[in-house]
Amino acid sequence: MTDHLPTITVHGPEGAHALREPLLAIRAEVKGPLSANGDGAWLTRAATHPGFRLVTVHVDAELVGYAFGYTLKRSSRFWDGLLTPPEDPGLLVEDGRRTFVGGDMMVLPHHRGRGYSHLLHDTMAHSRPEQRAALVVDPDIAQHAAYRAWGWTTLGEYRFTPDSPTYLAMLHDLPLTPARPRSRPPGRRIGEPATNTT
Ligand SMILES: CC(C)(COP(=O)(O)OP(=O)(O)OC[C@H]1O[C@@H](n2cnc3c(N)ncnc32)[C@H](O)[C@@H]1OP(=O)(O)O)[C@@H](O)C(=O)NCCC(=O)NCCS
Repeated sequence: MTDHLPTITVHGPEGAHALREPLLAIRAEVKGPLSANGDGAWLTRAATHPGFRLVTVHVDAELVGYAFGYTLKRSSRFWDGLLTPPEDPGLLVEDGRRTFVGGDMMVLPHHRGRGYSHLLHDTMAHSRPEQRAALVVDPDIAQHAAYRAWGWTTLGEYRFTPDSPTYLAMLHDLPLTPARPRSRPPGRRIGEPATNTT
């Protein structure tokens, strides 16, 4: 049987512009047809943030997943979504260098369960200059348990808007301990990725 090895690539904002159409196609396949923000304005906006990083996974020539994130600005309103303030309000103070936030992570359905999000996650967080990473996750998906297994702690419930579903905000100190093995026995073989930087 032929092994189709994943290729992980790290991009800056220019990569988000160059890959805009396939990235939007993945998002549409995973989340359904794009509506109000169907023009991909969210991606364009994200790519303007300082410290923007996009990580992609290709299998053969096909883009099958991506993750992106960026540094929170001093003026960021990211923490406004937290429903319960933490005991230490200092946790929510941003200085423009403190926090890397994960904005999106998606893998096409027929490529899931092969460790690609694990690879995306580790590459996203690798060699970041910030002190910590933050993300917002749906508590009902297996990925929440995966983040806990990968060392993330839950800060509290989170809503993007007052009428949006309730998610969980999570934090992880940086740097991340690299190269943790997968937490479950591999059901399918994955090879060592070739890592590119553009
Ligand atoms: C969440 C998502 C990105 C996961 O992608 P994936 O490539 O299938 O994930 P992985 O194969 O790397 O698995 C990640 C973890 O999920 C769990 N997992 C995945 N497949 C599993 C399976 N078949 N059985 C049990 N656990 C499984 C494992 O805990 C695994 O952690 P490990 O690598 O330490 O063992 C993908 O399902 C997706 O795109 N979902 C829709 C969008 C979304 O919800 N994004 C998450 C935003 S935070």
